[in-house]
Amino acid sequence: MNTKIIGTGSAVPSRVLDNAELSTFLDTSDEWIRTRTGIRSRHIAQEGQTASALAAQAAKKAIADAGIAAEQIEAIIVATSTPDYIFPSTANLVQQEIGAERAACFDLSAACTGFLYAMSVADAYIKVGMYKKVLVIGAEVMSQVVDWKDRSVCVLFGDGAGAVVLGEDSSGKSIFRLHSDSGSAQALTLGKENAVHMNGREIFSFAVRKVPESVKEVLEESETAKEQVKYFILHQANARMIESIAKRLDVPVEKFPMNLETHGNTSAASIPVLLDELNRQNRLIPGDVLILSGFGGGLSWGSALLEW
Ligand code: ACO
Repeated sequence: MNTKIIGTGSAVPSRVLDNAELSTFLDTSDEWIRTRTGIRSRHIAQEGQTASALAAQAAKKAIADAGIAAEQIEAIIVATSTPDYIFPSTANLVQQEIGAERAACFDLSAACTGFLYAMSVADAYIKVGMYKKVLVIGAEVMSQVVDWKDRSVCVLFGDGAGAVVLGEDSSGKSIFRLHSDSGSAQALTLGKENAVHMNGREIFSFAVRKVPESVKEVLEESETAKEQVKYFILHQANARMIESIAKRLDVPVEKFPMNLETHGNTSAASIPVLLDELNRQNRLIPGDVLILSGFGGGLSWGSALLEW
């Protein structure tokens, strides 16, 4: 048995914070942020708008897109670094909100690579025959865990949630390869004092080294040529990073869709939000080969090759 994405959904807060507004309370500028990162604006959760609320909105859309009932969902996995509670899990809160009464629920922590890790678990559950339909969500309210006085970090992030329903499929193809290097764990942290700290340069060079390796790994293991891939859907951290990865892979940057200009870095939510936007723009057709790549805290990284 193989797996296929049968529905996608996403949700972002309506409040938009652009670079000009940031410059009113931080020593920064639209020019600095745009040229270094490609980000112009981001969506920011309002008071009381939690990761679980965004996750449930995205989940409802994904379930509707899949054309199934919530009761058919057998497991909910939420990748998040910004859960409402330590427990109950964010997945439990989503279950309650959407009425997926049969589902097993848990959260998974792998920072910006979280969605990919969560998808790999869902994929494995389905391949071993344990479940047939799994809801996988990346949901973050990063705005609540950045120090709004730290201009080197707070300008980068945004809030949102993306969801997919993964179902069993007799055809199709899916392969996941995940990695971690805890030797550099301190390069990117979110601790109990509740603020993201990072060594920006180290993260940049880690991503542009490791992501191309990881893309090549899934291409080789699935015996797929890079020319066969329609889109490389990367974690949306920084446009310069994505451009540099495209160059290292010798793949036209047009094959790397981006939405970070209007969303910023939404951590575990960035890949499923982008996937949902591509789906809703009818840019994906059955049989398309996609590569998803995540990278971030841990340090962690990994890629998946999927057939749409
Ligand atoms: N506005 C204006 N100036 C700023 C800002 C800002 N928002 N932030 C930092 N600066 C200043 C610094 O203080 C520094 O000034 P100094 O030279 O007087 O000390 C100067 O700009 C250069 O700072 P650097 O950190 O060296 O700038 P760099 O060119 O490396 O760009 C950036 C920083 C954009 C963060 C880059 O390192 C990067 O993109 N790294 C990747 C990190 C990332 O994307 N993290 C996201 C989370 S991790 C993830 O999702 C995988």
